[in-house]
Amino acid sequence: MEPLENLTPKAIVAELDTYIIGQNKAKRAVAIALRNRTRRLRLPEEIRDEIAPKNILMIGPTGVGKTEIARRLAKLCSAPFIKVEATKYTEVGYVGRDVESMIRDLMAVGYSMVKTEMQENLQSEAEKRTEEALLDLLLPGMNKKKPTDQGATGFPFGKSPVSAQNETAKPPAITDGEGKTIEKDTREKFREMLKEGKLEERVIEVTVQKSGMPSFEVFAGSSNMEDLEMSMQNITNMITGGKSKRKQVPVGEARKIIMAEQLDRLVDHDKITEEARHRVEQMGIVFIDEIDKVANRSDRGGGQDVSREGVQRDILPIVEGSTVTTKYGVVDTSHILFIAAGAFNISRPSDLIPELQGRFPLRVELESLNAEDFKRILLEPKNALTRQYIALLSTENVTISFEDDAIQLMSELAAEVNSKMENIGARRLHTIMEMLLEEISFDADEHAGETINITTDYVNERLKDIVRDQDLSRYIL
Ligand SMILES: Nc1ncnc2c1ncn2[C@@H]1O[C@H](COP(=O)(O)OP(=O)(O)OP(=O)(O)O)[C@@H](O)[C@H]1O
Ligand SMILES: [Mg+2]
Repeated sequence: MEPLENLTPKAIVAELDTYIIGQNKAKRAVAIALRNRTRRLRLPEEIRDEIAPKNILMIGPTGVGKTEIARRLAKLCSAPFIKVEATKYTEVGYVGRDVESMIRDLMAVGYSMVKTEMQENLQSEAEKRTEEALLDLLLPGMNKKKPTDQGATGFPFGKSPVSAQNETAKPPAITDGEGKTIEKDTREKFREMLKEGKLEERVIEVTVQKSGMPSFEVFAGSSNMEDLEMSMQNITNMITGGKSKRKQVPVGEARKIIMAEQLDRLVDHDKITEEARHRVEQMGIVFIDEIDKVANRSDRGGGQDVSREGVQRDILPIVEGSTVTTKYGVVDTSHILFIAAGAFNISRPSDLIPELQGRFPLRVELESLNAEDFKRILLEPKNALTRQYIALLSTENVTISFEDDAIQLMSELAAEVNSKMENIGARRLHTIMEMLLEEISFDADEHAGETINITTDYVNERLKDIVRDQDLSRYIL
């Protein structure tokens, strides 16, 4: 993956092109918005603070790639990115998640992103320490180094989830000079065996510390709950030293547990938090899907809409720029980029409250897809449906190949069904494809070793009657 600074708008579009057919306007808009973030960061501070991101509203019928664009953007984005559904939030005061939690979630994404990066550099040090810890566990009571000293970790309350200790109940160490060399030799022998993977199955006891109090999620209505959770956790740990559990595991698994713990101890959590907050504030992207579902039509009204409008009102200050308290500190949302998307087939963008409409000045419309697009969608994307089925069946030693004309016919049939019934966009291809290959998928075992050619005749045979019979296709396709 390229670092974001190297991704020009053209490169971003090219990357999206490998998965999404067409929709060039939408791709360009997100590419420019993304690039403007890196551009802004190169400016002197006075100007930088003045430049607010232009939030984007993606409008388009169902199944034409809105969510797909977001998903792919997330993959190529080394910026903190989160995709949320507008419908999962409720107005403050109602039961459910408040909209501020999207920023808390984004911050959590940023945190783990930075943590992973920092831990990559600490890998070899952590490996070294893990090896020592494993040797300590394999050879209890032996003369040991203590490279995993608690004091150096910045964790006064033993917050890290796991610790490999066998401090208690160790046999008395042999202390005379001769004994020590024997111990040393043994330790080195074990080290060698460990390195050669000969001890992977040996069972040792590690102490796993339980952390987290998940039940607090219930109270997510208040933004300060996560802080409270944090402090409660610290208090509990202070009193109990963390709930810990002894566990018998093979060396192979113990290594993973200890390694994770060592990495956790080695990183500087304050530094991660600081860097993560910086990244979230400057480069963070929130993709709000299904925004149309919280838009009211003025002519409908009803109790439910009150809460939906409340959600829109709650989103306003966040999009505009405000501060949100997270367990990693206060996050300023002024420069976070928001991309909202919706099909708007029942409601229209103008049904959103005016203030919110104003916060999404860039409108891009996604086009509905035709037979020509379907053909390309079936063939070109890296994860194209044809490739998926070919791969799936290859695991049973069945080779299928699609003739060009057959693909053409399938695309036309998909477009036909979409126009005659509901237009569900590219999702129609999934049902068509599933129907087409249903028999082969079921009988794959009988066809092992064969090559099956999907021809127009085959497509006709499997699909034509269904497509032509409206009643049938309503249920099947
Ligand atoms: N332009 C496209 N190119 C390639 N694949 C597409 C395209 N549009 C849609 N698809 C495929 O169709 C499926 C549905 O697309 P997606 O989830 O993006 O729909 P959407 O626009 O978000 O619709 P909705 O409004 O219902 O959420 C996905 O599997 C996606 O891969
Ligand atoms: Mg979608």
